[in-house]
Amino acid sequence: MRLAGKVALVTGGSHGIGQAVAIRFAQEGAKVALCGRGKAALDETVRQIEEAGGTALAFEADVSDKTQVDRMIDGIAERWGRLDIAVNNAGICEVAPFLNITEDQWDRHMNVNLKGAFLVSQRAAREMVKRGTGGSIIQMSSVNGLLAEAEQAHYNTTKGGMINLAMSMALELAEHGIRVNALCPGFIETRLTKPLIDNPPAIADYLRTVPMKRVGQPEEIAAAALFLASDEASYVTGTSMVVDGGQVIKLS
Ligand SMILES: NC(=O)c1ccc[n+]([C@@H]2O[C@H](COP(=O)([O-])OP(=O)(O)OC[C@H]3O[C@@H](n4cnc5c(N)ncnc54)[C@H](O)[C@@H]3O)[C@@H](O)[C@H]2O)c1
Repeated sequence: MRLAGKVALVTGGSHGIGQAVAIRFAQEGAKVALCGRGKAALDETVRQIEEAGGTALAFEADVSDKTQVDRMIDGIAERWGRLDIAVNNAGICEVAPFLNITEDQWDRHMNVNLKGAFLVSQRAAREMVKRGTGGSIIQMSSVNGLLAEAEQAHYNTTKGGMINLAMSMALELAEHGIRVNALCPGFIETRLTKPLIDNPPAIADYLRTVPMKRVGQPEEIAAAALFLASDEASYVTGTSMVVDGGQVIKLS
């Protein structure tokens, strides 16, 4: 087991990519805390992990709220006495043409995707520094953090910010044994992407941009997150790992 004895936090762990990461980490021996919106989905993920013999703890917490983030990380420290891994996966994406993005939409994306990643990262890193045990922090960015997709300027901006947040944190936290990396998924089958997947002409058109000609699965992102979280990535920090079926290498 590659994460035996470790304690991990996965934000947005109740659905999609985050849920797959939480389940995989638990299979690899980590005690996993997860947070998200909606108690039923959180409880269901905890149930799945425990039924498979793992250990999990859910928090109904909003990552954009500092008080809730602090309470959650205090709760993890009280329960398990340490925190080794944090995956900032909670995120939202509402499509809107640039000329129509409202101030509310802009603020919501910044608050959940980027400020949330900052709040959780800072509090998690402080916990790791306090205990002197090092750790691994993963920012769930996107290929949209590397390239621009139309009608997602607000979302693209948060994902680009998460890549620089990973580099900036890696620079300052290396001396504490904390590695920080960004993970950039391409198009992954989750409820976020379901509207496009359920539209055959649109998805066929989209897949023309993907050399592997298929959508990715959450478990394929979880496998990459496992590598970055594990000691096998002991010399990997400040980088962005792209897992996208080759989408970003394609010029035309
Ligand atoms: N699906 C893709 O194709 C894709 C591609 C690249 C990057 N991503 C990124 O991966 C992450 C997960 O995406 P997904 O497709 O699994 O989405 P999803 O909608 O299936 O899951 C999102 C999760 O985030 C949680 N969440 C939302 N707002 C929150 C908040 N304020 N506080 C706490 N939790 C909150 C939800 O409860 C849920 O558990 C996102 O950051 C997304 O930007 C997804």
